[in-house]
Amino acid sequence: MDQKILLFVFNLFLLIAIPIHSRNIGKFVAFNDIHVDLNYKIGSMAECDLPSSNCCRDMPTKGYTGTIAQKWGMKTCQTTKATFEAGVKAAAAEKDIDFFLLLGDFPSMDIWRQTKEYNKEDDTYIIDTIKKYIDYPVIPALGNHDLHPADEFDCGGATSWFYNFMADQYQQWLPEDTTTFRFCGWYAHTVFPKLKFIILNNMLCDPHNIYELDFHNFPKQQLDWLQSELEDARVKKQKVYIVTHIPIGPDTTDIWPPVCWYDYTMLYAKVWANYSDIIVAGFSGHTHNDEYKIIYDFETGKIPKGMFLISPSFTNEGNRYSGYRIYEYDKDTFEIINYKQYYADVFKRKGDESPPSWDLYYDFSSTYKPFGIDGVSPTSLQTLTNNLSTNESLYETFASLFSPLKEMYTDNKKRQLICGLSVTTQDQHLDCIKN
Ligand SMILES: *[C@@H]1O[C@H](CO)[C@@H](O)[C@H](O)[C@H]1NC(C)=O
Ligand SMILES: *[C@@H]1O[C@H](CO)[C@@H](O)[C@H](O)[C@H]1NC(C)=O
Ligand SMILES: *[C@@H]1O[C@H](CO)[C@@H](O)[C@H](O)[C@H]1NC(C)=O
Repeated sequence: MDQKILLFVFNLFLLIAIPIHSRNIGKFVAFNDIHVDLNYKIGSMAECDLPSSNCCRDMPTKGYTGTIAQKWGMKTCQTTKATFEAGVKAAAAEKDIDFFLLLGDFPSMDIWRQTKEYNKEDDTYIIDTIKKYIDYPVIPALGNHDLHPADEFDCGGATSWFYNFMADQYQQWLPEDTTTFRFCGWYAHTVFPKLKFIILNNMLCDPHNIYELDFHNFPKQQLDWLQSELEDARVKKQKVYIVTHIPIGPDTTDIWPPVCWYDYTMLYAKVWANYSDIIVAGFSGHTHNDEYKIIYDFETGKIPKGMFLISPSFTNEGNRYSGYRIYEYDKDTFEIINYKQYYADVFKRKGDESPPSWDLYYDFSSTYKPFGIDGVSPTSLQTLTNNLSTNESLYETFASLFSPLKEMYTDNKKRQLICGLSVTTQDQHLDCIKN
């Protein structure tokens, strides 16, 4: 009899427990803002009066008494080849990864010294290194620095050489039809039957891009194309991940210029709101900070309809750790469940010849759950944002993950940052800061 009860209880347990634990969890990696310096020189000056992308290079060191460039990297300099390769190897060793988001910005940042050949060499080095270690699907998006001259993206014109060059480099990862990529760097790729990646060229809303000041031309064309791709996904009952180097909206660290022009951000957010049932999330980099962007409905500005998850840079320049991110998602609904940020503290490795390892820096769920934030969704990010101004310890946690310069984000800068996370467009950002 007792045994029967036990069996009954056990079966009941299975009945309850199995559906809960059978959530089919997948993982993917995101790398962004690598900014490798192929001219990095061990033993050179790591501190100089010149902009940071000039340090750690072959220059006369006579009379120099400052810090000397080490093998793995310096907080004043761009990524070393050794650290990048070690990072890709570490990511490649992670188990059960389904795909890899390659979110752009490969070359170093000495844009005044760059040429087409210079940038092609940096781009090729990064792409070849990833090909060497990653043997599962890679979804690449172009970054504003990948091109020379940086930021100046045209469509079907002055930039065609670059799209064609990158299409050839990316060939094994792109869909068969590369027409839109070769035209202007945007494309859609259904890598898994129920998940469509829509990869955008948001350099078309980059305030530093002089070609695209006329909003009614190519930026508008990209949005029309986006809408048709979303319509197609809806018919096919697919979910969508948006992949783009540059997200939309204001700059959370400054009042001007925005990260992406107002007109484009506004229309883009409207398209998104119309398809919020199928777009799960957007994935970006560009700002080098660890942040996000919520897309609100336009009628009330209060209902969260979408989110961009923005991972911090791989480059350690600016006293950052060198990092990449692993997302966890539900393989049936494609919802984002959690993400883990991995880091290597390359500065501590002075004189150490063995490659750095990438360790867990933080995990979204365990960090924010104590504050009542459950899961990674537009709604949970809204709760996080709304609580930043009222809960000092939550703000401290967020700001210290946001940037190594967290001391900067107090008073006005704190307000600017929280406002930037609370709204979708530049004008709303300015309104929020004023009020
Ligand atoms: C959103 O959908 C509505 C209703 O279908 C339509 O009238 C509107 O033009 C759409 N707007 C955008 C920006 O897609
Ligand atoms: C902030 O959130 C934590 C965790 O929920 C809580 O313990 C603390 O009391 C909150 N602080 C304020 C000022 O609300
Ligand atoms: C946190 O945000 C939620 C939802 O946005 C709100 O209901 C709650 O009052 C906030 N908590 C604090 C301490 O501000």
